Amino acid sequence: MTNTQKKDESGNQEEILTNRQGHPITDNQNTRTVGDRGPTVLENYNFLEKITHFDRERIPERVVHARGAGAHGFFEAYGKVGDEPVSKYTRAKLFQEPGKITPMFVRFSTVIHGGHSPETLRDPRGFATKFYTEDGNWDLVGNNLKIFFIRDPIKFPDLVHAFKPDPVTNRQDPNRIFDFISHTPEAMHMITWLFSPWGIPASYRFMEGSGVNTYKWVNSDGVGHLVKYFWRPKQGVKCLTQAQAEEIQAKNFNHATEDLYDAIEKGDYPEWEFCVQIMSDGEHPELDFDPLDPTKIWPPDRFPLLPVGRMVLDKNPVNYFAEVEQAAFGTGVLVDGLDFSDDKLLQGRTFSYSDTQRYRVGPNYLQLPINQPKTPIATNQRDGQMTYRVDGVDAGENPHVNYEPSSLGGLKEAPKSGKPHTPYVQGPVIGQKISRTNDYQQAGERYRTFEDWERDDLILNLTTQLKQCSPHIQQRMVEHFTQCDPEYGRRVREGLEQK
Ligand code: HEM
Repeated sequence: MTNTQKKDESGNQEEILTNRQGHPITDNQNTRTVGDRGPTVLENYNFLEKITHFDRERIPERVVHARGAGAHGFFEAYGKVGDEPVSKYTRAKLFQEPGKITPMFVRFSTVIHGGHSPETLRDPRGFATKFYTEDGNWDLVGNNLKIFFIRDPIKFPDLVHAFKPDPVTNRQDPNRIFDFISHTPEAMHMITWLFSPWGIPASYRFMEGSGVNTYKWVNSDGVGHLVKYFWRPKQGVKCLTQAQAEEIQAKNFNHATEDLYDAIEKGDYPEWEFCVQIMSDGEHPELDFDPLDPTKIWPPDRFPLLPVGRMVLDKNPVNYFAEVEQAAFGTGVLVDGLDFSDDKLLQGRTFSYSDTQRYRVGPNYLQLPINQPKTPIATNQRDGQMTYRVDGVDAGENPHVNYEPSSLGGLKEAPKSGKPHTPYVQGPVIGQKISRTNDYQQAGERYRTFEDWERDDLILNLTTQLKQCSPHIQQRMVEHFTQCDPEYGRRVREGLEQK
């Protein structure tokens, strides 16, 4: 028996309570006081340790995507992309052999409101995935919808401020949201999706995922192709109407977390197929949109979704805080064979994620089990708040050497893995939007593709929110919708007049 075990009355072994110094706690019911009526004394270490740790139980919430649910699972590669060998396009090891398994962790989320807000709100849903590959971690940080509101990262803080509650009243206000959106024509495509019947996923198991931004795949010759990533739920796609969402919200503000957790607990493991769209690298002047523009889809009839593998979620977290709250995903976390494109929004995101995580979780956030790769880590990074391991020494590094290069038993650079991909970029340094903005066309096409019931629902959802806005903001929004499609604009205007 160790000093943290004892025998109960029937002789069974029991774990005993200790403090963090390893001292057995003999009384967890009474603080130490002068007499039984107090006052309390200050040298009560057990009480002080317990209460001060409790006082620090919260870390800053994510500034966006604070409300989430996570699960562990695995990725299984098909070894192909559609009918072709995947190695034609990427040398990333996780995709190469059919049946190859890579462990994963996934965090789903809503975007705008805080950690315990309802999961029924009309809001994009986050779909953040971490692949623990043999070459280290790959994070694909996506959303359920395939496009985004903006294409320049400098606008992201304004977008989020407009959607968050008013800084005076602390109420979310459609007047602030549509004030911003009415000055942001590139958002019309996203708004058309978000306010359509596809704007509130029924739960996380029934939603699609998309990387949204354009990335690259690089093969062993160093040749790059542009790619977009997608998750397609084998459970099917299901969404809620506004009325259904309100009915659920009246009784349950955890329904999506509950659905995911309960399904996995009872062995009903959710599964998604992983697909890519591929385009040759380049500007593609023949297209009426820029392939790097995250407010556009690549039309699937011209760029088909090609399956490359599947993901199964089969294990719930043991502890929500340690695994889900402290999980840190970033768009900069790629492995060999995967690369960035020049998409400005993607580059802005890539700085922002690890910056927020160093603040939110701390400078050693990558030492936490949920974030650290499952491959060996050997760096010369040392110290900082909450350090609990020395990376290089486990790998046999001389503990006196925390620098490189060295001839005293320090770590050595890795061999090159293949021909590097070396895109050539040239141009004036300017602050200017892309030339092929084409802000309205895909939004109009989407409107025309919708069936009657989808258009009716879209107009109802939009006018319900817009009727709370100032007339000049309503007017500007009607003008944008009219540019997308004259009928779209007319129906929003008539809907507002009727209300
Ligand atoms: C310039 C645009 C964007 C910026 C600056 C940005 C920034 C951020 C930040 C700071 C966080 C909090 C991260 C944390 O504390 O761990 C976050 C979370 C997240 N963002 Fe973005 N974001 C942008 C656009 C997008 C887009 C386009 C998507 C979808 C494709 C997206 C998906 C997510 C997801 C899923 C999370 C939650 C990750 C998690 O579960 O921990 N974001 N974003």
